[in-house]
Amino acid sequence: KKNVFEMAVPSEILYNVLMPSSEMPEGSEKVKGYDFNEGVNYNKLLSTYENSGFQSTNFGRAVEEINKMIQLRKEPLSESSLNKVSLNPIDRLKTNCSIFLGFTSNMISSGIRSTIRFLVQHNMVDCVVSTAGGIEEDFIKCLAPTFMGDFNLKGKDLRIKGINRIGNLLVPNVNYCKFEDWIMPIFDEMLKEQNEEKVKWTPSKVIWRLGKEINDPESVYYWCYKNKIPVFSPALTDGSIGDMLYFHSYKNPGLIIDIVEDIRLMNNQAVYAANTGMIILGGGLVKHHICNANLMRNGADFSVFVNTAQEFDGSDAGASPDEAVSWGKIKMDAKPVKICAEATLIFPLLVAQTFARDFHSIKNLKNKC
Ligand SMILES: NC(=O)c1ccc[n+]([C@@H]2O[C@H](COP(=O)([O-])OP(=O)(O)OC[C@H]3O[C@@H](n4cnc5c(N)ncnc54)[C@H](O)[C@@H]3O)[C@@H](O)[C@H]2O)c1
Repeated sequence: KKNVFEMAVPSEILYNVLMPSSEMPEGSEKVKGYDFNEGVNYNKLLSTYENSGFQSTNFGRAVEEINKMIQLRKEPLSESSLNKVSLNPIDRLKTNCSIFLGFTSNMISSGIRSTIRFLVQHNMVDCVVSTAGGIEEDFIKCLAPTFMGDFNLKGKDLRIKGINRIGNLLVPNVNYCKFEDWIMPIFDEMLKEQNEEKVKWTPSKVIWRLGKEINDPESVYYWCYKNKIPVFSPALTDGSIGDMLYFHSYKNPGLIIDIVEDIRLMNNQAVYAANTGMIILGGGLVKHHICNANLMRNGADFSVFVNTAQEFDGSDAGASPDEAVSWGKIKMDAKPVKICAEATLIFPLLVAQTFARDFHSIKNLKNKC
């Protein structure tokens, strides 16, 4: 009699384990990573991401999506789009694809600020949205530096030394004192203009004004002012700018900042655009403000989200692009991408494979001619 180890595996078990496969659909892509025998070539490495799986695949798809925005933006406007130009009150040349860039405050605290500055310096995006910290930290960095720290530094020790922590970055209190000295006379001047010249201030007008006053090419908002890129920040008071406005309301009361004029301007950036693309780093206000403006045109044509938020809690921050499709914020036939990742790791690489490559290839071509 055969013992159990000598018996053939019953066919039923074999069938259960090795269920016969159907043919894979034609054109199915094989999973393949980068072979470092080819050398250390970052362009080749990042080009393999799309077929590498998981978030690297989303990275590859995001590169495609952004490159589509860039190419469409270069195409001439159709006759019907040209007719709508005068309806946008911002004196800015219309493109065939309006690119909205949104980022949370901490992006400006981090080195991502330089990547964002490159984009606005070369007029590569058409509308910017950030929160209050994302506005003021740009100006504060022109006045005094932010330093590298550590996530584990003790709050009590830092408080005693008058140093504030943003993740593993440090901002001394003196930076905010310098900010106060810089911004208060500007608020005085703005109040005078409001009273004498009937200027109606809005967050976007305030940001342009501050960009003009800082007059520093390191600043994101200096370039937004120079290139007439509108910047929207409807919760402009929720940061140090709000503290300054609070103090100013005692020292020299009366300054009014109207958010209604700005919501009209923001939504119209989407309504009167020929096509739209959204690139949104992080969630919360910046994500919703851009998506909501795109609802006014029945959805964005292209979308790339980079954030760490998840959807199980029902938050807008973590909502997938498909949830935005259900609201009409992204077009039904669009191919939106969400990269689940921390933006300081991903965004410079994303820009390297899209805007920066395009910029330098055109520059090299011009140099050859
Ligand atoms: N430096 C600062 O962060 C700072 C400074 C002053 C004021 N504030 C104020 O704090 C409030 C909240 O800030 P917020 O709305 O800009 O965003 P937030 O910091 O609350 O982030 C919102 C969401 O974005 C995602 N996110 C944030 N950082 C990310 C990253 N590095 N990579 C990927 N995803 C990321 C996360 O899911 C997070 O829940 C705002 O009103 C802002 O003005 C912030």
